[in-house]
Amino acid sequence: MTPKKPFDPAACREEFPLLADPPGGKPMHYLDSAATAQTVAAALRAVRRHETMTRANVLRGVHFLAEAATDAYDQARRAVARYLGVADAEEVIFTGGTTGSINLLAHSFGSLLAEGDEILVSELEHHSNIVPWQMLAERRGVRLRVLPVTEDGRLDLDRLPAHLSARCKLVALTHASNVTGAIADVGRIVETARAVGARVFLDGAQRAPQGPLDLPALGIDFYAFSSHKLYGPTGVGVLWGRRPLLEAMPPFMGGGGMIEQVSFAGTRYAGIPRRFEAGTPPIAEAIGLGAAVGWAGGLDWAGATAHEARLTGRILDGLAGIRGAKVIGPAGLQNRLGVIAFTIDGLHPHDVCQWLDRRNVALRGGHHCAQPLMERFGVAGTTRASIAPYNSDADVDALLAGLDEAVARLA
Ligand code: ALA
Repeated sequence: MTPKKPFDPAACREEFPLLADPPGGKPMHYLDSAATAQTVAAALRAVRRHETMTRANVLRGVHFLAEAATDAYDQARRAVARYLGVADAEEVIFTGGTTGSINLLAHSFGSLLAEGDEILVSELEHHSNIVPWQMLAERRGVRLRVLPVTEDGRLDLDRLPAHLSARCKLVALTHASNVTGAIADVGRIVETARAVGARVFLDGAQRAPQGPLDLPALGIDFYAFSSHKLYGPTGVGVLWGRRPLLEAMPPFMGGGGMIEQVSFAGTRYAGIPRRFEAGTPPIAEAIGLGAAVGWAGGLDWAGATAHEARLTGRILDGLAGIRGAKVIGPAGLQNRLGVIAFTIDGLHPHDVCQWLDRRNVALRGGHHCAQPLMERFGVAGTTRASIAPYNSDADVDALLAGLDEAVARLA
């Protein structure tokens, strides 16, 4: 393996066209990567290459463009498998995104469950890891159990055993919170879930963009993430699952591409991954994602993580000095991502975001698609800054200066 170039934040930023050459020429302080990360140039190039040189449908045609497109699509699947540490690329299913992946799982895995079976989620989940399970509960009489979070916004794993019974078939938790940034202790979750025979699904939407994974080694059964948070195009994501589990699951959507044989007497479904990819898939987007994971897989993540942690520390320290500011999430840097949600007494998150927008600082304000978590902390919403490897000290300076100004002028 060629040694990785030591992480260089300025060089990293240069690989993101929108940040390197911002529209309007003013520096862009993009601190909303937990919502959507910027797209890396390698992904843009791959999409353009496909659109201008290999555009055709996949898995259907016999002409040379169709073969080239199919080849590029399959290569993207293999690139994703490598990034996830998965040897069998057919375990990688392209979906529309994390939400699509979880809905697929809820339908297909869910259809194997019986009335009275249980699924465990937590107060920390994004709506996309709550609502599909609630819909399943309504359809099949499955019971949803909810693990509480601690005061510092982590899964309360001390209470996990008490929330698991022999009826629990799936533990569906976030790998890293899109609000508090807390990273889950996967080893402990897997060990506890296995003790009752439950499968484990992790929502990797926030963790997957933070460096390559080894999913089989984590001991989990299913994983999902979105391309658009992983420096790739929108409209595509991944569901990974262990082959025997995927093979035992019926398809979610029917249509072209997911069958072996169709007749009015009955239809035979294709094997994995195709049985879960009905219709024309997001071809260009998947190819772009393949390039994005190729880029991310080559980054020096030890260096990038240290850089992000330093910026996160600066934000947490800065917030500690702002009158009325309160962080929802871990106070320290251990096992947490650079996702920092906070409230400021007397200020509505939307006003804070709008004020900061005047300084070209992009933040998210609101409930972050995690209303049960907001309720748990007794707030309607928060302001949120989120860090990616391309962020700089200048971004943090602009954030903290803008917050000081907002408090002085608005609070
Ligand atoms: N899940 C995305 C977020 O947290 C949209 O902002």
